Amino acid sequence: MAVTDAAARARELRDQLNEANQRYHVLDAPTISDQEYDRLFRELVDLEAAHPELLVPDSPTQRVGAPIEGGFPSVRHDVPMLSLGNAFTADELRDFDARVRRGLGLGADDPPVAYVCELKIDGLAISLRYEGRSFVRGATRGDGTTGEDVTANLRTVRAIPLQLAEDPPADRLEVRGEVFMPRGAFAALNEQLEREGKPLYANARNTTAGTVRQKDPAVTASRRLSLWTYQLVGAHGLATHSESLDLLRRLGFPVNPNVRRVSGVEEVIAYTEEWSEARKELEYETDGIVIKVDALDAQERLGFVSRAPRWATAYKFPAEQVTTKLEEIEVYVGRTGALTPVAHVTPVFVGGTTVRNATLHNIDEIRRKDLRVGDTVVLQRAGDVIPEVVSAVVDARDGSETVWDMPSSCPVCGTAVMREEGEVVTRCPNPYCPAQRIGGLLHFSGRGGMDVDGLGFKIMMQLVERELVREPADIFRLDVETLESLERLGRKSAENLFASIEASRRRPLGRIINSLGIRHVGEQTAIDLASWLVAELPRDDGESEEAWTRRAADRLRDASVDELTAVYGIGRVVAEGIERFFADEHTRDTLHRLIDAGVSAEAPDPGASATPPDGPLVGKTLVVTGTLPGFSRSEAEEAIRAAGGHAASSVSAKTDYLVAGDKAGSKLAMAEKLGVPILDEDEFRSILEGSS
Ligand code: IVH
Repeated sequence: MAVTDAAARARELRDQLNEANQRYHVLDAPTISDQEYDRLFRELVDLEAAHPELLVPDSPTQRVGAPIEGGFPSVRHDVPMLSLGNAFTADELRDFDARVRRGLGLGADDPPVAYVCELKIDGLAISLRYEGRSFVRGATRGDGTTGEDVTANLRTVRAIPLQLAEDPPADRLEVRGEVFMPRGAFAALNEQLEREGKPLYANARNTTAGTVRQKDPAVTASRRLSLWTYQLVGAHGLATHSESLDLLRRLGFPVNPNVRRVSGVEEVIAYTEEWSEARKELEYETDGIVIKVDALDAQERLGFVSRAPRWATAYKFPAEQVTTKLEEIEVYVGRTGALTPVAHVTPVFVGGTTVRNATLHNIDEIRRKDLRVGDTVVLQRAGDVIPEVVSAVVDARDGSETVWDMPSSCPVCGTAVMREEGEVVTRCPNPYCPAQRIGGLLHFSGRGGMDVDGLGFKIMMQLVERELVREPADIFRLDVETLESLERLGRKSAENLFASIEASRRRPLGRIINSLGIRHVGEQTAIDLASWLVAELPRDDGESEEAWTRRAADRLRDASVDELTAVYGIGRVVAEGIERFFADEHTRDTLHRLIDAGVSAEAPDPGASATPPDGPLVGKTLVVTGTLPGFSRSEAEEAIRAAGGHAASSVSAKTDYLVAGDKAGSKLAMAEKLGVPILDEDEFRSILEGSS
């Protein structure tokens, strides 16, 4: 075939395949058979092999690329990916509508607001970028500001158009949506794992997240992920959100067909009622309804409060409850020696997950609910929340149930446990208890610490048992061969784990300090310490990251309690905790040994700041407690820091405000006792905006 003919045929094949893909995955209306699709696909593969110059990156044959080396690069979102406020009842939806109407200056006689109701898809939020008509980058939401570049994996998701179906309104376009695993694909995956005798996945959402964040695009391709898009970033001359969804459809994006434009809040409520049962019949999981003001100029006027838009909210379906049997109560020992009772129940499917374990918090909670081993219990799970045992079904008792009590000695090391006056927690006081060691190492490698992807409990347990890892620095001396010798770790996973260990050698200083697990030093304190060190120790010209990190480590190890209490955000209890850590012969050199093993602080430090903070909360210390519908705990704390404030974890006379949500307990009582002003979520939001 002449080259020009080949080029024309390749273009034709690509168009046919792209269209077939869109018809199948997006429009759910296939026009050609699978065999026909395969035939065209093979013809294109052969043609591209014979004429490599015809190969373009967005050819349908190029969905599956080579495995990704190292970690995923981070991506800063031009427009942050926000979260949504929540509503749990019809009245809370009416409150939302009232806030919207007030914000738009509408009176009682003005017409109802037009809203768009969408199903809230329980998957993984992603951002897709197009240049011209081509898909160029896909990223995860991450913390909302920075996500991970997972383009190679997302290219394999057939519902994501690699080529737009028509010219877009701008040369650069960003579209957001939710990737998910259809129920059928999830069930098929678990059936296959079962046949292979492998452990099963608990739920579709975590499997989706894991699939998008693993390193081999061929694996992503095999998992049959799908997508619904729900947001076009930027107005692009359109007047309403509904119009932007229509545009997305025309461009070839999958938009959920159950989207409905309604007039006024009562129609919103009717939509939530309609879907609370009907959603169970859908081929994908949903955890609520997203309600958005349709007019884009109204959205603009309403704006944002902190990290959530005022023009949208998420209605959450009521937590699903089921009954099951409490088979056994087991005690886990954490990093600080705290003993936590955990319920093992007969596995049940609830809230999209198979639940086997549920936390029981502490012994007081077990007594208050009068839970006995052998009881039939009511279990509930809502969204992201850890499954909870709500109550025992007393009528179902037959007398064989047994009352349970905390053990008197640590189940791991046998040391007699202690419970301090007025504390609900029972602790193992032995600092060398192996459970505390594993807990400490997991904290070190976990999300708030060095974030070593893939280094979880099962692997850490083996590393500790085989004495390959005794302390954090040992992790950085592991090699691929050693990792491969662990149970359940093949060559490929060992290489991936090794790559994530390598990638975690450089972290912001605050993360490194937090990872050490110094008593009373949490994320905020670690950032405060890092900011202090960055300000105290200017970098010398040409000084290596390692050399500077060593100076910072020396400075921290040698700081006196008086010096530490002079640091912004650090009180006496914390300062003493730090001093004790660096006085103990077992821990005093932990940080230095990490540096010897090749760990160093990133320069310039993205977390620490040498300049004084700015914002409406400068110089203020706040404590967050209870559950806030619109923020997770860490989002609220992040918002406090972003506003220049200090997010502390316990209430004292120095606390300026307590932000109290639902189910606030002892911290609220303490704040009331000390006369600390208490803010509800709305008051907190207005302070963040600097308007009060
Ligand atoms: S709109 C500013 N629409 O829910 C508006 N989000 O809590 C941002 N989600 O992170 C999102 N379905 O992952 C929107 N139809 C939908 C959604 C949806 C699921 C997720 C999304 C987001 C979270 C918000």
